[in-house]
Amino acid sequence: MNVVLQYLQLLLLIPFLHHASSNSIPIFNAIFSFGSSYEDTGNMAILAPTAPGYRNVLNPPYGETFFNRPTGRASDGRLVIDKMASYLGLPFIPPSMAQGQDFSKGANFAVFGSTALNYTFFQQNNIRNIYLQNTSLSVQIEWFENQKPSICNTTCVEYFTKSLFALGKFGDNDYLYMLSGGKTIEFINSTVPLVVETIRSAAERLLKQEVSHLVVAGVRPNGCIPVVLTYFASTNRSDYDSLGCLKVYNNIGIYHNTLLSNAVKQLRLEFPLAKISIGQYYEPIIDFVRNPSKYGFTSGTQLRACCGTGEPYNYNLLASCGQAGVPACPNPSTFINWDGIHLTDASYGIIADGWMKGRYADPPLLVL
Ligand SMILES: *[C@@H]1O[C@H](CO)[C@@H](O)[C@H](O)[C@H]1NC(C)=O
Ligand SMILES: *[C@@H]1O[C@H](CO)[C@@H](O)[C@H](O)[C@H]1NC(C)=O
Ligand SMILES: *[C@@H]1O[C@H](CO)[C@@H](O)[C@H](O)[C@H]1NC(C)=O
Ligand SMILES: *[C@@H]1O[C@H](CO)[C@@H](O)[C@H](O)[C@H]1NC(C)=O
Ligand SMILES: *[C@@H]1O[C@H](CO)[C@@H](O)[C@H](O)[C@H]1NC(C)=O
Repeated sequence: MNVVLQYLQLLLLIPFLHHASSNSIPIFNAIFSFGSSYEDTGNMAILAPTAPGYRNVLNPPYGETFFNRPTGRASDGRLVIDKMASYLGLPFIPPSMAQGQDFSKGANFAVFGSTALNYTFFQQNNIRNIYLQNTSLSVQIEWFENQKPSICNTTCVEYFTKSLFALGKFGDNDYLYMLSGGKTIEFINSTVPLVVETIRSAAERLLKQEVSHLVVAGVRPNGCIPVVLTYFASTNRSDYDSLGCLKVYNNIGIYHNTLLSNAVKQLRLEFPLAKISIGQYYEPIIDFVRNPSKYGFTSGTQLRACCGTGEPYNYNLLASCGQAGVPACPNPSTFINWDGIHLTDASYGIIADGWMKGRYADPPLLVL
């Protein structure tokens, strides 16, 4: 065979060889997830379906885009964890509270409204909120530890080698509860190191018990979210950035994500054999708001909720998505934001894609 032809064949083979050796297929056999409403696939619907801050999520039009019914997810469709499961060829990961479920492909411990900090932190600081409950990060990890013997027992090392653990996002609720509880920005900012340390120590607690593949999620830009834009609006134009987002709340997020990135670097040194990625919400949401049409979102609606009432952000707590007579936009896939707080199926899909392939996660989960 002539040399040129051999060379061409080798070139054609390289991508396949690389693929086979980079251990990218099959990657994970199970997903274990912790978080709040961006991750909850049904726990809150089991724990407290009639809670005043939650019950609207169990009404249409929640779920209308994908499941054709409300499922307890705070979206019109799937969340990042659902899309990740599909990428990996796994079924949707059942909520950990569900009775009679098969958890052999993973469990989702996330609960709507959860915080990184313990419940007692909010009590001690006199912060009240209808969404606040005792399902914080450390409580969720405790649930996982209690369930562990029934999942893998003596074979956890082997089993977790092929399991992906997804931690968060945590932190956004902590900051929002403080904000709506009347705390100053200085106070909120001063808690960021504590919030991040709480996440770091939760990650450490998992990594000490055979967890080998972990993605830790960063917080979102709260200053671009309709609920914050509505209730913390400013008359001072210089409080807004060029995208129309409130700078000070985004700066808290940037600070949090910077500390989180440092914490993950420390964890990589402490657990050199573990693979730890950071999955972002901040960067994708900013990308969507900056260039909506690039991602299929309608320009001009990027700071508005699809489902809701009220001007100028289509958000009003007293007439919000899931309440009688509150409409949704005709095509949710053209909106970034679903209900003023949570994202659409379309947004979560692009974010999940970015986590798997690397645009929004470092390293990408497909090669973790
Ligand atoms: C929260 O739940 C945890 C774990 O179930 C429990 O140990 C703790 O006492 C609870 N805290 C409060 C304030 O109820
Ligand atoms: C908060 O959670 C941490 C982490 O699990 C735990 O060590 C600590 O005792 C808890 N603090 C309070 C006040 O409940
Ligand atoms: C876990 O392993 C222990 C010791 O081998 C055994 O006694 C126990 O029944 C097992 N538990 C489950 C849930 O399989
Ligand atoms: C928060 O605190 C950090 C560290 O002290 C500081 O660099 C940053 O400017 C503060 N951000 C805000 C919004 O106050
Ligand atoms: C508006 O905000 C800027 C900085 O955020 C501040 O320097 C300025 O004094 C504020 N103006 C008014 C009228 O409050």
